[in-house]
Amino acid sequence: MTANKDTDIPVIDDSAETPVTVRLAGPEDLVAITKAHQRALGPGRYALTAYRVREGTPPLSQFCHVAESGKDILAAVRFTPVSIGGRSGALLLGPVAVDPNHLNQGLGQAVINAGIARARESGAQLVVLVGDSTYYGRLGFAPVPPGQIRFPGPVNPARILAMEFVEGALGGFKGEIRASDGLI
Ligand SMILES: CC(C)(COP(=O)(O)OP(=O)(O)OC[C@H]1O[C@@H](n2cnc3c(N)ncnc32)[C@H](O)[C@@H]1OP(=O)(O)O)[C@@H](O)C(=O)NCCC(=O)NCCS
Repeated sequence: MTANKDTDIPVIDDSAETPVTVRLAGPEDLVAITKAHQRALGPGRYALTAYRVREGTPPLSQFCHVAESGKDILAAVRFTPVSIGGRSGALLLGPVAVDPNHLNQGLGQAVINAGIARARESGAQLVVLVGDSTYYGRLGFAPVPPGQIRFPGPVNPARILAMEFVEGALGGFKGEIRASDGLI
């Protein structure tokens, strides 16, 4: 991935005919994002932990990103501000979905990293998720000690992962995770 010098917007493979751009998601993307999640995650997606925590919250936060090529949304990630044990300052990552025709091209990592960069700048202390440690470990996520963060419904403790922006921040977040109004 390189930076487009004119706009400073991150792009992937700018030698391609239609470059891929990673940008913040807006309301105009909602239909395409929903379709991307439908395609990648199927009808069972509402049972996913990220959906359960997000229930009743606005569909987009200021951290959600998409990767687009021309008019096509190829990847989308959502981030939801959450409180953990009543303490705000954390974000829940998920779901993330990449168009099945564009897997393994770095799009998943690109949208995730863009959201993380914005979260860091915005003063968040922590990003948590429920996911595969092989994939997210490479992006800098590490396992949360079992029992420290409680999710709605059953979750495999080995899949609860976090990235701290300040060393030791994770230690201050213990208890039930809930969607919250904002970061602070
Ligand atoms: C998981 C997903 C987002 C990865 O996106 P992607 O753009 O294809 O992946 P990237 O290009 O960022 O990374 C590719 C690398 O990650 C690996 N990878 C992809 N999915 C993985 C997974 N679930 N577990 C472990 N490694 C994985 C690939 O093998 C590849 O490894 P390599 O670089 O050694 O070849 C994508 O496969 C997807 O949309 N899957 C369906 C929806 C889903 O499962 N979402 C996550 C739960 S909400």
